[in-house]
Amino acid sequence: MISHLRKNEHLNKEMQVFDTIKELQAAISIQKGTSKKVGFVPTMGALHKGHLSLVELALKENEVVVVSIFVNPTQFNNPDDLKNYPRTLESDLELLKDLSPDFVFAPAVDEIYPAKGIVKPAVNLGLLEKTMEGKHRPCHFNGVVQVVARLFEIVQPDKAYFGSKDFQQLAVIKEMTRQLKLPIEIASGETIRDADGLAMSSRNVLLSAEQRSEASGISKALFYIRDNWKVKSAAELCSEAIRRIEKNGLMKVEYLELADSNTLETIHSFDQSPVPRIFTAVQVGKVRLIDNIGIIKGDD
Ligand code: PAJ
Repeated sequence: MISHLRKNEHLNKEMQVFDTIKELQAAISIQKGTSKKVGFVPTMGALHKGHLSLVELALKENEVVVVSIFVNPTQFNNPDDLKNYPRTLESDLELLKDLSPDFVFAPAVDEIYPAKGIVKPAVNLGLLEKTMEGKHRPCHFNGVVQVVARLFEIVQPDKAYFGSKDFQQLAVIKEMTRQLKLPIEIASGETIRDADGLAMSSRNVLLSAEQRSEASGISKALFYIRDNWKVKSAAELCSEAIRRIEKNGLMKVEYLELADSNTLETIHSFDQSPVPRIFTAVQVGKVRLIDNIGIIKGDD
């Protein structure tokens, strides 16, 4: 266990970092013994302001906050993506020290997946694994369900926090929690973006300067659809958005589609849903980025 002194000295507490389940659970159970509410933010590290916003939310709403940092191999369907995924534990801990959650759990793969004894949760994701990310990244959500169920079992939080940046993942986690009847509240945080609109992502550091500048075109295309949904058809807007993203030949759209925010069912016109949402996955060289944005239908 490595200790990191809280910057927020008046709390006079330390952020404790664990790599074993045993130590983490011992520390949590002392807190649980005093009936403190435990908030949990699972991450794969390479932390940025998107992750930190979830930690801040958890700190506001809970007495004890646990952040996990674990690059989960079972959710990567592309071995190169797993190999290249940024791993920056020391700087992650530095960033977290400023917020000072109570516990950081940064286990090795063997700790989460020992050779024997891990039962995969029986969850039927239905449409969620057949559409968009589910369709384009086979087995990805199985891996997400597997690791989040395992982390929930280890941490046993009262409330867990996920970003709307990964909107379909958020839906998957809600569905998993419902089917497994877990007594955990699932909360969401809004997508945090860089100044030019690009959704923050751990994978953004893998972009070249040219790709990084081009990548702002992704959110700009989604905002273009959001701003024009009343005046043009969905089909026209989606094909124009794809044209804009791909126009310089540096980015390739894997999918760009509209779906209902509640069911994630595909829609083909804005009147098919009270809460339409635009989802996209874009390949920028070797880096795959996703984004989504909701269309707000006012009374006007
Ligand atoms: P990771 O990509 O590290 O993201 C951890 C959490 O941060 C997720 O809930 C994600 O939606 C949220 N997040 C990422 N970028 C964000 C942004 N720009 N704004 C707000 N929130 C953002 O998602 C995972 O890890 C993994 O799949 C995990 C759930 C940890 C399971 O392995």
